[in-house]
Amino acid sequence: MLQKLPSFPGIAGPVVVIVMDGYGVPKSDVGSAIAAAKKPTLDSLFARYPHVLLRAHGTAVGMPSDEDMGNSEVGHNAIGAGQVYAQGAALVADAIASGAIWQGAAWQQVVAGAKAGRGVMHFIGLFSDGNVHSHIDHLKAMVLRARDEGVQAVRIHALIDGRDVPETSALEYLEPFEAFLAELQAGGFDAQIASGGGRMTITMDRYDANWKMVEQGWHTHVLGRGEQFASASQAVRALREKHPGTIDQDLPAFVIGKDGQPVGTIEDGDAVVFYNFRGDRAIEITRAFEEGADFDKFDRVRAPKVTYAGMLQYDGDLKLPKRFLVDPPAIRDTMSEWFAKSGVAQFACSETQKFGHVTYFWNGNRSNKFDGETWQEVPSDVVPFEQRPWMKAAEITDAMIAAVQSGKYKVLRCNYANGDMVGHSGHFRAATMAVEAVDLALSRLLPAIDAAGGIALITADHGNADEMFELDKKTKQPAKNPDGSFKAKTAHTLNPVPLILYDNVSGGKLGLKALEGAGLSNIAATVANLIGFDKHAAWDASLLDVR
Ligand code: 3PG
Ligand code: CO
Repeated sequence: MLQKLPSFPGIAGPVVVIVMDGYGVPKSDVGSAIAAAKKPTLDSLFARYPHVLLRAHGTAVGMPSDEDMGNSEVGHNAIGAGQVYAQGAALVADAIASGAIWQGAAWQQVVAGAKAGRGVMHFIGLFSDGNVHSHIDHLKAMVLRARDEGVQAVRIHALIDGRDVPETSALEYLEPFEAFLAELQAGGFDAQIASGGGRMTITMDRYDANWKMVEQGWHTHVLGRGEQFASASQAVRALREKHPGTIDQDLPAFVIGKDGQPVGTIEDGDAVVFYNFRGDRAIEITRAFEEGADFDKFDRVRAPKVTYAGMLQYDGDLKLPKRFLVDPPAIRDTMSEWFAKSGVAQFACSETQKFGHVTYFWNGNRSNKFDGETWQEVPSDVVPFEQRPWMKAAEITDAMIAAVQSGKYKVLRCNYANGDMVGHSGHFRAATMAVEAVDLALSRLLPAIDAAGGIALITADHGNADEMFELDKKTKQPAKNPDGSFKAKTAHTLNPVPLILYDNVSGGKLGLKALEGAGLSNIAATVANLIGFDKHAAWDASLLDVR
């Protein structure tokens, strides 16, 4: 149980943590869909309530360097755990740099597995240096190591990004990589790209939102069914021409073929490494590879017996996958766990696309609830979100208002996905509407919190809608495409996020401290103080100022 604070008994009502996904605070308003949005509620929050800025990227959330943007996984981990752990991106980079990854049983088993079969090792994963789900340097290191260990052939199944990196950057990754593979090929090692497709089209679905994507990925990578091209870069060029305006993440699937035959189907006795380190979008395809005949998410047609490994363990509760190359961060002592141990009832809500963020990531990558927790998922639409920028903000708000009014919960949390999911589409106008939808939601939820005598902490996990155009490095103005249109920016930003203390109950007694270097990991202790508890020893400092 957490210790009671001697000086402050906590507020009478509930504390509600509201995560506005993808809501950063940029230095300049140029290209910010947030600045362009009509948002009277947020404007008045910033004008009238205590607020500070929090670091939400780089080392403040456990990424390898401050050049790395934040993302929802590391952001929600830091919020929920109240501490910063070295995250997958850093752990994998370190394991490769030290060579520890090659000494691990999992790597040795995939090598042995491939050699015992046809000698073929497959690598499936996100093909970029975004460092959110994966890094292309990790792939490169594994390809070279497989060669050095005497594997006969590698086949790469490249999920095209354009979501964590510029929206049409695929060839900047593919062309040098194909040159690298051609060199290996010339040196006598059979290394080729075998299939691929846009990451929002195949394979990388999350939270059971759309299994069709995974089915299509299976057809592409495993069965080798689909439109054939001579190389991945040719595929990207041809598909862009055939589907003008389609950005990388939405490119259709492609298969690399020679003489009409796919060059890299996945067969019995092969080894398969799914090289993403982040779990949310890796779990479904992992299940398709690992589950037996009772797998019922789609018809696999053929389920080859392979030696399968994930880069990391994606879910510690579900033990998925069984074999993994690098140990995930061992996140302990989350606020959910310690609030549960202190008898605090908790409520969590989001829509499907971010549901695991506010439950599984929040709770330190655990899919099981702690005592006294209630989770509510609002099913997301299966549509491109620029077509429905309001997403499920209204329904999440309904659920939150009902939970607050029920009087059952002391700490509640929710995530509004809009700024992030619509921000990733690169549609400026839709992104302003996404921000407006969140503003409207707040205008309904906050009065319900007032009525319950509660307080809200309004924050975000990282930026996105705050920069919708790539900015020219020199002029700091939006960069343009050759056709004169602005270059859309689909990725997250490096900007800090707000933390607003919405408090109409303390009569000005409560404020927020502006602590040097404060980040998302300072939120847990702040929530604990608001309900009258001291922070857990492992948590970073509270920002609550009790006057
Ligand atoms: C995604 O998976 O959609 C992006 O790579 C990262 O977005 P998220 O970290 O906000 O989920
Ligand atoms: Co995002």
